[in-house]
Amino acid sequence: MSVLSTDLTEIASRLCSAGKGILASDESPSTMGKRLVKAGKDNTPETRRQYRGLFYGAELGGAISGAILHPEALDMKLDDGRSFVEALHSQGIMVGVKVDEGLEPMEASCGAYEGETSTKGLETLEERLATYHEKGARFAKWRAAMPICKDEYRISRAAIEKNAAQLAAYAELCIAHGILPIVEPEILIDGDHDGGVYFVETRKVLGECMHALVQRGVRLDHILLKCQMVTPGVDWKGNGPWRDPATIARWTLDALRQTVPPAVKGIMFLSGGQTEYQSTVNLNELNVTARAFNEFAVPYRLSFSFGRGLQASVLDMWSRGESKEACMKKAEEVARVNGLAARGAFNEAVDGAHPTVLPKSGNLQESFRGVY
Ligand code: 13P
Repeated sequence: MSVLSTDLTEIASRLCSAGKGILASDESPSTMGKRLVKAGKDNTPETRRQYRGLFYGAELGGAISGAILHPEALDMKLDDGRSFVEALHSQGIMVGVKVDEGLEPMEASCGAYEGETSTKGLETLEERLATYHEKGARFAKWRAAMPICKDEYRISRAAIEKNAAQLAAYAELCIAHGILPIVEPEILIDGDHDGGVYFVETRKVLGECMHALVQRGVRLDHILLKCQMVTPGVDWKGNGPWRDPATIARWTLDALRQTVPPAVKGIMFLSGGQTEYQSTVNLNELNVTARAFNEFAVPYRLSFSFGRGLQASVLDMWSRGESKEACMKKAEEVARVNGLAARGAFNEAVDGAHPTVLPKSGNLQESFRGVY
């Protein structure tokens, strides 16, 4: 099975290898720029190259099966002259590419639904896919982002349907070009809703996406799903079961089992604003729960496609002037514990403390993502 395979079933299997997940490092220059500026760096192509090199030059092959790159990174090189793509391939890591062009407001967005978006980029997607394939990309990502609207505590029907239709159209085009589509309908964690609201909306969104894919004739074993875990909103003030990884795991598995057919090989969770620690612990609990309880048995691989969940400590260290080597080592340590969590085998008593340098609780919420 090669990193340049064009067989979609094979690509899915490879990305879903046991104990491995995906490094989501496809931030747009705008999103990455805001993080860099916050970290005291200039947002230039050169600083973006240096930052990305901390990951693509690290030894991540033991825990990472694929890395999602921003298109500009497909043409960038490490300090040693190897292209990012070559460096990843040399470790057996498949290369993916972000193909959406960011978010735009929904036309009918108003009132309680203010802030709803759809995703840009479908018009030019076909012509871009052949170039990405030529550059070594074998999978792609398209992100839809849906906030739970205040007051109503739900997502509008229009937003659910439009985003599902766009994801299905994107998936169909990718498949026609030998590129595996990661379908990402993200429900944002912004808001003061409890986990129950999030569960209800997750079922609706995932159900609609699967329906749209099937109606388009997309084979579900030729996609991977990237969604969020079922957690309470970031401003939820309550306490009790929703703070417990076991509750999050059970409701997440329940939402998936009720909406996602077993033909989907892998659920590659985003971290979505959870801290690095929460992301790892909750992923671990998902796998433990899936194994331990028959009623939650799942047919899919449960792994990660984390952005902030894999990068936050490294960015923090880099911004504090720590050496490139120390940052790369941290990237490896954080990837490693998530590889363990993808098997349900992360155990701090055995493996030592989680390597994050950031607080375990709180959140990594960002309100600026989505601008291309
Ligand atoms: P987070 O893990 O930071 O949510 O990012 C994942 C991602 O790629 C969102 O599109």
